[in-house]
Amino acid sequence: MATFTLNINGKKQEVDVDPSTPILWVLRDHLNMVGTKFGCGIAQCGACTIHLDGTATRSCILPVSSIGDKKITTIEGLSENGDHPVQKAWLEVDVPQCGYCQAGQIMTASALLEKNPNPTDEEIETAMNGNICRCGTYVRIRKAVKMASES
Ligand code: FES
Ligand code: FES
Repeated sequence: MATFTLNINGKKQEVDVDPSTPILWVLRDHLNMVGTKFGCGIAQCGACTIHLDGTATRSCILPVSSIGDKKITTIEGLSENGDHPVQKAWLEVDVPQCGYCQAGQIMTASALLEKNPNPTDEEIETAMNGNICRCGTYVRIRKAVKMASES
């Protein structure tokens, strides 16, 4: 066990965990922040995507010991009232089906637009490609990302 002070959604949080614990489980099990989902656990599906210093990152394979003072943003901290342009577009297009993959989709899309506010269809495709949706909401996801980029 070791103590880590993490910067999560603009707030310092102290946790006492095994250094090899993936940050996904620190969020979910130790801090009760369950918006970030567990899908595959091997960096293959994107359900666990968070931002690390603004970059979309898979939290399921990221040991808490590797984070240091980097800024973590989770779906809970993306916006104050669920009104990030990506979240608004998601509602407008009515993207989710079961919803399970959607936090990860939104975190990947918002990181893309932060770095590239006007992506081409091809750039959206490339950025979103690794986020799996078992319900097949891909067409609506692409449409909502485009809409958010135009807002
Ligand atoms: S749970 Fe992390 S990529 Fe699937
Ligand atoms: S909405 Fe069900 S897995 Fe994506």
